[in-house]
Amino acid sequence: MIIDLKGKVAIVTGAAAGIGREIALTLGREGVKTVATDLDTDGLTKLGDEFAKNGFEGLQIACDVADAAAVKETVARVVAEYGTVDVLVNNAGVAPGGPVETLPVEKWDLNFSVNTRGPFLMSQAVIPIMKKQKSGRIINAASFAAIVPAIGGAAYAASKAAVVYFTRVLAGELGPWNITVNCYAPGMIPSGINNFGSLPPAEASKMLDTLTLRRWQSSDDVANLVCFLASDLAGYITGTMVDVSGGKLATQRPYVAYEGPAV
Ligand SMILES: NC(=O)c1ccc[n+]([C@@H]2O[C@H](COP(=O)([O-])OP(=O)(O)OC[C@H]3O[C@@H](n4cnc5c(N)ncnc54)[C@H](O)[C@@H]3O)[C@@H](O)[C@H]2O)c1
Repeated sequence: MIIDLKGKVAIVTGAAAGIGREIALTLGREGVKTVATDLDTDGLTKLGDEFAKNGFEGLQIACDVADAAAVKETVARVVAEYGTVDVLVNNAGVAPGGPVETLPVEKWDLNFSVNTRGPFLMSQAVIPIMKKQKSGRIINAASFAAIVPAIGGAAYAASKAAVVYFTRVLAGELGPWNITVNCYAPGMIPSGINNFGSLPPAEASKMLDTLTLRRWQSSDDVANLVCFLASDLAGYITGTMVDVSGGKLATQRPYVAYEGPAV
């Protein structure tokens, strides 16, 4: 079985760093014309250098996913360059948090404008293109927080739970055009959005205790899933959220299995 994405055109938002960067590089390696967008222009330039070095085809476009005009302009530029959009990966995300009682409203709004409004605007911009070609893949970043939220993460969790339901409704609306819409829920990948990489060992150990596969997740776990969801092999999967969290809290105390032959 081969995942064949050669020649497809994909847009990945939030591709200058972290998981999005890995998704972009993986798609580039698979022969996809990959348009990387982000606010971070330095990160995009570095990614562009990596694309050039490896002979991958793609563009890097500075774009704020929450800015409706910038989103429309970006998608128009992609169509002018490559003629269509086959795959949209709504990866860009932020997670400013704090206790609800004192959370500044700006932080609440930022979670929703990037994590929820962003996928809405980007999807709205590509839908007519995908409908015209009667095929497409929209793949949204949800989070394990949409399943079990964390203390201090009310805005983030609510914005990601919204992505799950946005995904389901959009899948229903676009089914007749053979466009699938799915989302995925990563668990714990050390990146710019969290402090997993700098936790004291005892704290890190407690976090890892929640995982069935007791190791930090890597961005390519998500990138590989995105490639599958983008491919023809996933043509009958739509409206769903894929848990790619390493079995986080799949059982009540997954660390017991690491303590010896308890079962
Ligand atoms: N890292 C994890 O453990 C984890 C877990 C669950 C879900 N996720 C989700 O995965 C996605 C990627 O997260 P990450 O860990 O790579 O984070 P990251 O902070 O490393 O990368 C996020 C990228 O999004 C970009 N971005 C932020 N606001 C933007 C905007 N308005 N417009 C365009 N780009 C913008 C940032 O510049 C950055 O490059 C996010 O949606 C996040 O919620 C991550």
